[in-house]
Amino acid sequence: LGLLRRVDSYFGEYLSQKAKARENFSDVSFSRTSSSCSIATDEGLFEQPEPLAASKTVLEKILRRRSLQLRDQQQAWQESPEGRKMLEFRMRLPAYKEKDALLTAIARNQVVIISGETGCGKTTQIPQFILESEIEYVHGAVCNIICTQPRRISAMSVSERVASERGEKLGEHVGYKVRLEGMKGRDTRLLFCTTGILLRRLLVDRNLKGVTHVIVDEIHERGMNEDFLLIVLKDLLPRRPELRLILMSATLDAELFSSYFGGAQIIHIPGFTYPVQTHFLENIVEMTGYRLTPYNQIDDYGQEKMWKMSKHAPRKRKSQIASVVEDALRAADFKEYSPQTRESLSCWNPDCIGFNLIEFLLCKICENERPGAILVFMTGWDDISSLKDKLQAHPFLGDPSRVLLLACHGSMASSEQRLIFDEPDDGVRKLVLATNIAETSITINDVVFVIDCGKAKETSYDALNNTPCLLPSWISKVSAQQRRGRAGRVRPGECYHLYPRCVYDAFAEYQLPEILRTPLQSLCLQIKSLKLGSISEFLSRALQSPELLAVQNAIEYLKIIGALDENENLTVLGRYLTMLPMEPKLGKMLILGVIFNCLDPVLTIVAGLSVRDPFLTPFDKKDLAEAAKSQFSRDYSDHFALVRAYEGWKDAERDIAGYEYCWRNFLSVQSMKAIDSLRKEFFSLLKDTGLVDGNTTSYNAWSHDEHLVRAVICNGLYPGICSVVHNEKSFSLKTMEDGQVLLYSNSVNARESKIPYPWLVFNEKIKVNSVFLRDSTAVSDSVLLLFGGSISRGDTDGHLKMLGGYLEFFMNPSLADMYQSLRKELDELIQKK
Ligand code: CDP
Ligand code: MG
Repeated sequence: LGLLRRVDSYFGEYLSQKAKARENFSDVSFSRTSSSCSIATDEGLFEQPEPLAASKTVLEKILRRRSLQLRDQQQAWQESPEGRKMLEFRMRLPAYKEKDALLTAIARNQVVIISGETGCGKTTQIPQFILESEIEYVHGAVCNIICTQPRRISAMSVSERVASERGEKLGEHVGYKVRLEGMKGRDTRLLFCTTGILLRRLLVDRNLKGVTHVIVDEIHERGMNEDFLLIVLKDLLPRRPELRLILMSATLDAELFSSYFGGAQIIHIPGFTYPVQTHFLENIVEMTGYRLTPYNQIDDYGQEKMWKMSKHAPRKRKSQIASVVEDALRAADFKEYSPQTRESLSCWNPDCIGFNLIEFLLCKICENERPGAILVFMTGWDDISSLKDKLQAHPFLGDPSRVLLLACHGSMASSEQRLIFDEPDDGVRKLVLATNIAETSITINDVVFVIDCGKAKETSYDALNNTPCLLPSWISKVSAQQRRGRAGRVRPGECYHLYPRCVYDAFAEYQLPEILRTPLQSLCLQIKSLKLGSISEFLSRALQSPELLAVQNAIEYLKIIGALDENENLTVLGRYLTMLPMEPKLGKMLILGVIFNCLDPVLTIVAGLSVRDPFLTPFDKKDLAEAAKSQFSRDYSDHFALVRAYEGWKDAERDIAGYEYCWRNFLSVQSMKAIDSLRKEFFSLLKDTGLVDGNTTSYNAWSHDEHLVRAVICNGLYPGICSVVHNEKSFSLKTMEDGQVLLYSNSVNARESKIPYPWLVFNEKIKVNSVFLRDSTAVSDSVLLLFGGSISRGDTDGHLKMLGGYLEFFMNPSLADMYQSLRKELDELIQKK
């Protein structure tokens, strides 16, 4: 009895022991008899007479034993032949020389910032140093290191590399976790994950219980997620004084981060690179026998040219030269360059990166140059796959016995990834087509030649994972230098920039941080779902805070679509939107697609709006392309045209005529394939959130009712709405904020002379000289009445006032009454569902 009483008095502590045990063992049960207490763990049954002492000592013993086992295992590996070879490789990395300094700094400071050239061993070594020193010196201590990566692929490939450097299988002590995939086990102590995964964990575990070290990698990229995470971690540090935060950057901008964390210690890892010879476009063109020179005059055709290209034949008549110029420019696949300023850079046609020029350079390198891998930086995976197709058909470059052609981008399979790091057979040259992922996050060992197209896709914000990016844009000077640096890692190298020197001079020094250049709606939702208080107050504490107006716009928008209520609290809709990694309006369309049972077409629309426009308009075949698009339209909707085009492709694809179908209809095969895979991904996301029943396997049961889909589009795109004003021959468009607006010429509605609907909802408006609308769908009064605005908001009055600005007839009280009662009914229906 006495014993039991004592046990009960220790009950509190007993429970906390139990919780601790649960953290370290997958299966634990405590039981007691009148004379002893036993603990059954997955390592066996332990009995001790003293219940509390038992739990403590047994647990400590087990942990200690595991630690020693781990230490022995580590030593054994390092003494084995492969282990020694690996260790020798590691010891040659610049980071290794700083090992002691790094560990001391980390032990003494809560925040440490580490900078060092790409490839110096930050990502693979530093987490490992921490792990090894914990194993070696802190017997029984359980470290739990989390290292975040901006991209899934780097989390996966780095974890695999680190596991192999330790002679372990992935998922033992080293693991990874990305959305929908992961390899980690009970004993995982070093976890590589995407930044989004850590943010998600913070959702349920605000203090990161049990985590000893957080390493945020690639902070120089200044992604939205990383900037966001830093604010959260900065708040967390005082609450978790023993937690260590390590920030790693590939560039020397460490001061900014250091002062953000109150003057945190900076450690720089000195690196070494071989010289790299740099060629700009003018030099490359010269290799073809032509010459590209600045030429700031009006030519014979009356067009202003900033560049001319000429065969070395200066005495030819000017018009002849002009035609040679035109031909050569066309052959080289790029148009005129006239960019002296940053503004005019955006006019460059990103679809012409110069495939022929790249092919020319590749042949030149393969035929004449010394051995060494070639790394080509492309804009995005669609360009990569087009170029890959083209090169595979090439007699020399496509011959696998001579060239090992590989792609490296964010969405590649892991089996494909491994090949990038492998050495090719003798006499075979490795050629890797990569996105900016190979700039700093992935290091390919043997690169000697770099070809840089100068563009990268700027991502749109995405809280949980990468959604496809939006627009290709020029890289920064720092990125261009990084790309060049890839060529000089193993021996002197060469870098070919596919743009003139003056374009490079006009590049921005650094890329603007994502938080300052993308809409903040999803971020605001994320802040709310993490319960971080007032949005504007929270964002004012960022490394570089976005403008107040941008924040207010985002909040206002979220209120209008019903994701936040009047007091800035998340609504039910808002909570679901935080689970869907896409723009809120697209997420909302998906949710409505489920509620109104028309998910199939809505999935296509949402996927289509997330990828590069699948309708191609080649410069010289504009009319044909627009006519091809208009045959998909009968309903005054670009969105329906997209659905038809996709469904046509799906049907054709079954007959292996997919390519032919795309070719005939000016559609991008890549976009079609991307839509296809995104549809699947979004569908499984909807299952994850519980919105779609987990057992649903096909989309066939969903309605394709045109009115329903139109209504869903209207609700998703609201408040992107303009009124259609008809005059005698045609029509004009007006929005409340901008007055007159225009349609992009490739919109199906731009080809109509009359639109038998009073409204257009649109996806996006862009100000060039006038305001242009992209992707629109015509809607009727009643659809706008019922579906414009926030269905779940319940604030019919405020909503009415707003619509009143648009709809004069709203002043008619009977209509307003009807509207209110209809809305109420609808709201009830939705609540039930
Ligand atoms: O993070 P940081 O750019 O500083 O370098 P890292 O990713 O840690 O890579 C250090 C070295 O490991 C590189 O020089 C690569 O040669 C090598 N490595 C590799 O061989 N295979 C991998 N999957 C990753 C890195
Ligand atoms: Mg790295």
